Amino acid sequence: MSDPARPVPAGTNLGPCIAMTAQRPSRSRKLPGIPVLGVPFLAALLALTPAPAAPPAADSVARAPQAAEPVRAAHGMVVSEHWLASEAGRDVLAAGGNAVDAAIATGFALAVTHPSAGNIGGGGFMVIRFPNGTATTLDFREKAPLRAFPEMWLDESGKYSSRIHHNSLLSVGVPGTVAGFDKAHRLYGSMPWERLVYPAMAIAQDGFAVSEGLARGLQRLTTREGAHPATVAAFSRNGTPYEVGDTLRQPDLAKTLNRIMLGRRDGFYRGETAKLLADEMRKGGGLITEADLELYQARERAPLRGTYRGYEIITMPPPSSGGVAMLTMLNILEGYDLKAMGHNTSPYLHHVAEAMRRAFRDRAEYVADPDFVDVPIQRLISKEHADELRRTIDPRHASTSAPSDVAQGYESLETTHFSVVDANGMAVSVTYTLEGGYGVGVVVPGAGFLLNNEMGDFNAGPGLTDDTGLIGTTPNLARPEQRMLSSMTPSILAKDGKLVAVVGSPGGRTIINTVLQVVLNVVDFGMNIQEAVNAPRIHHQWLPDRLRIEENGTSEATLEALRAMGHTADMGGQQGLAHSIMIDPRTGERLGAADPRNPVAGARGH
Ligand code: DON
Repeated sequence: MSDPARPVPAGTNLGPCIAMTAQRPSRSRKLPGIPVLGVPFLAALLALTPAPAAPPAADSVARAPQAAEPVRAAHGMVVSEHWLASEAGRDVLAAGGNAVDAAIATGFALAVTHPSAGNIGGGGFMVIRFPNGTATTLDFREKAPLRAFPEMWLDESGKYSSRIHHNSLLSVGVPGTVAGFDKAHRLYGSMPWERLVYPAMAIAQDGFAVSEGLARGLQRLTTREGAHPATVAAFSRNGTPYEVGDTLRQPDLAKTLNRIMLGRRDGFYRGETAKLLADEMRKGGGLITEADLELYQARERAPLRGTYRGYEIITMPPPSSGGVAMLTMLNILEGYDLKAMGHNTSPYLHHVAEAMRRAFRDRAEYVADPDFVDVPIQRLISKEHADELRRTIDPRHASTSAPSDVAQGYESLETTHFSVVDANGMAVSVTYTLEGGYGVGVVVPGAGFLLNNEMGDFNAGPGLTDDTGLIGTTPNLARPEQRMLSSMTPSILAKDGKLVAVVGSPGGRTIINTVLQVVLNVVDFGMNIQEAVNAPRIHHQWLPDRLRIEENGTSEATLEALRAMGHTADMGGQQGLAHSIMIDPRTGERLGAADPRNPVAGARGH
């Protein structure tokens, strides 16, 4: 099934492909508000805490994770949402590129093969751990255009409009992905830039086989009411939906990638691409101008670091809330013997859900773009703060979430995560997104790429908090050049100075909880990385006060036990796509675990 991306050795003369826009491809591809206590109170609190309720007998029939083995490789590994993109990254590793090089190649290839979330029109985060144990992050989150303002989601009558907020050109943030990849490459890449963009361009030009999931997604995108003409042109055959096995070619996207290959970030933020994007904005009532594009800068930020049972967690700081919230949850859970409770039993799920509830409450209250808002990060991720929160957890009864405080907003389930480890042990964890599936659904005419609707991650407007799900708190309001709050949680685990695992997931707010549970599965339950990824997951986000368990995620008896504790619990659906890598501590092999929730995801090593 494998058809490696057309090989372009490092340093290859790229003349022919640079002229590619005027040529036919050489061959057709057949590619398938909490005070901190100054003293650690943990021991005292544990002594005071009543024991958790014993699991009902039938809890033991909670579904055990299927035995499953990851893909093994001696040198390097890439795991992503599409096997072709994993192969593009793997080939870069095999040709001597490092993990940052491979991540860039994979990210560009996903922009072609996974158009619902892979992107150049969106943004995201990259966490890098170097072989010597130092680490950094790149923030290439979209930001608000210069003309943004907090009340921009109100219609003419002054009423909040979800359509304007999530589904209009006003919902498009200034894209960050190309600037992020450019910066990552300048700072830490080792291969020629052209070598990293080329595979994506080749796939866009030559095409690839449409999978069942993609066929379904593109049909919905191109046949929905008000489908944008350029989107219909790019993702259907003159209005006829693609079928499984058809070849999807994206010639306009190939031209844009060619400009990026030649001009790096200027190939996107200036010249032809910038003009096409800004023209579409002017035509459709969007705010982004050439000046916004010119101004965009990716930011290098120090990672958040925490510990969990002797493991070091390296993760993304704000403007993602993911790292802060996950570390808060881990700190709370460190005070319990989760293993003794048993995986996915009712006491276990209860305690995990209560930790989630509390971390999400903090998130709503405190976290936003740190360039605009003073976020008390160190306090929120401190062990002392977790001790305080843990003390409020009743081991036998669910707490309640107070909607009078702050509420959640719209959340879609489209983003994508990929993990990379190279032969030297450099590790890269990337999550990037268009926000909604296919973003705002608008392809930039002539440029072939989809625009994000990330401005929807800003709060609805000043004072617009209510219990229907709107948030109007101040920190995360749309302001010129502010980055909208995210939940993306690309993370890396280490122990005793050695790399252990690379993890992350899509899924809006569920991201944080998915990544948390992969970590718990590895650390507390000793699962191998594939079992840890496969295992059923749960989600609680404070508001709405609801505990969701994945389809077939537990037994009816456990569900009933949770309800008896006071949880509004139900089971159904899927959560996350946590493409992860672990290092075999014995052999040093790279163990790649593609999440089986998407059949075209792939782990590829060498
Ligand atoms: O940045 C965020 O947290 C959201 N815009 C991500 C959206 C998402 O994950 C949807 N996912 N699958």
